This record gives sequence, structure tokens and C-alpha cells, in this order.
Amino acid sequence: MAIKEGKIIAVTSVKGGVGKTTTVLNLAAAFNKKVLIVDLDLYGSAIAPSLDVKPRNNIFELIDDLENKRFSNIDSYVTMYNENIDILAAPNDPRKATKLNNNFLNMLFYQLKVKYDIILVDTNHVIDETNLVAFDLADEILYVISPNLIEFRNLQTILNIYKSMDKENYKVVLNKSKEKNQNYYDNKEISVLIKDNVDYVIPKDFYCKDFEKYLNEGAILYTKWKKHKIFNQITESLEGGN
Ligand SMILES: Nc1ncnc2c1ncn2[C@@H]1O[C@H](COP(=O)(O)OP(=O)(O)OP(=O)(O)O)[C@@H](O)[C@H]1O
Ligand SMILES: [Mg+2]
Repeated sequence: MAIKEGKIIAVTSVKGGVGKTTTVLNLAAAFNKKVLIVDLDLYGSAIAPSLDVKPRNNIFELIDDLENKRFSNIDSYVTMYNENIDILAAPNDPRKATKLNNNFLNMLFYQLKVKYDIILVDTNHVIDETNLVAFDLADEILYVISPNLIEFRNLQTILNIYKSMDKENYKVVLNKSKEKNQNYYDNKEISVLIKDNVDYVIPKDFYCKDFEKYLNEGAILYTKWKKHKIFNQITESLEGGN
């Protein structure tokens, strides 16, 4: 039997609150594969609270055990959400964020790739050392932006840095679904402003007025509210590697 070689997809942004976590959750549900969500938003863990699961263990303990040679099996650190989705939670104490030993992330992701088809990494928009290491390990990076001029300009700067390192493994996801009336820029205008392509658009009709209700149930919008085809498009193209 061939050894599994899971794909690492990191979801990030240049600003907070643009829809990273929501995108991660919907993609996790749309993949219909063995998915692990890694919460690398170490200062504002959101995956476990969004899904209303109480993690037994978290990434800090896992890395600590790897470092101190106490680690034996990944299963005791992840928490099951449903039959397809497991989560590796962020520490619930944000003071642990700066204590996480980033030198062991490589070893961690190696372990994860053998076990899962897809590893979705939720990040913080403040690009810290942990996030940078994760980007380096990622097969694909999704930049989520909302229709906002400051974000467009900042994204251009970030993508320039990225391109200067000869990296091309990123996609831009324009999220129009976060607020009810976000409709000012069209894709062409945005492409000019970011000097790059908008690869995917989460359209306005994915705005959910009952967002909090689903959150309260620990439900993923894609599964319990609307199976929007945009998430299938994104997962299919990520699986195909284009
Ligand atoms: N489809 C949607 N419909 C309605 N509201 C939404 C939708 N997606 C996101 N939101 C709103 O936007 C908020 C921020 O979304 P989300 O937590 O996914 O962003 P984020 O980029 O992960 O934020 P942070 O930077 O704090 O981690 C949500 O709490 C919710 O109020
Ligand atoms: Mg988030």
C-alpha cells in the first residue's frame, strides 16, 4: 500500500475578520476526504469554539511532546468533529503562542501528511514566525480578502514579497459574503489594484443572516445551510493541483 501524501493548504489574509476561519470550515466540509484542520491562529483560537468541540489536547502539547520525545501517536492529540473531519486545536491559553517551538512544525506536518488527505491550516493575519514556517511547508496558500481598498493595497505588497522569493503557490479568494451589502468593486478593478488575479469569489449569496445560529449549533454552513458550489470549485481545483 502506498504511503499517503496529504496536501497542506494554509488559509491566510492581510487583515483580521475577513472570513479565513469560515472558509477553512466550509472547505473542510466540501472536500469529502479525510481532513485535518490545524488551528494555527494561536492568539485567537477559533476552530474548536466554532465547531463547539472540547479538544482533549492541542498543538502546543503535541509540539512539546515531539520536542521532549514523549510523542508516540497523533491520534491522542486530535479531536474528532465528524467522520471526515478531525481538528488539531490551538492552545486555549494565548500566552503559549510565543512558546511554541517552530523548529518542530516540520516534523509535525510530516506526521500529519501520512495520516490525512488534506491538512487545512487556519492562520492569524499577523504573520508571525509560526505562520511563516507553515507557509513554507504548505503546498498551497489561499489569501482571503474582502472588497476593501486598504486590503487590496496591502495584498499587493505581500504578494510582491512572495513573488520576489519565486513562490507561486498561492490563490486569491475574494469574499463577498461576509456582509450583506458589499458590492463596490468588480473583479477586473480588483485585479488591477492587487496586480494579480482574483482566483475565486465567494459570492454575496453565501451571506448567512443566521450565522450565529449555526455557530451556536457548532454547524458548518456548507453542510447545514447551503452547499454552495464555490466551495466545490475550490476543493476540486486544489485537488487537481491547479
Ligand atoms: N457567510 C457569512 N455570512 C454571514 N456572516 C459571515 C459570513 N462569513 C463570515 N461572517 C462574519 O464575519 C465574521 C468573521 O469571519 P471569520 O471568523 O471567518 O473571519 P477570520 O478572518 O477568520 O477572522 P480572524 O482574523 O478574527 O480570525 C464572522 O464571525 C461572522 O460574523
Ligand atoms: Mg479566524
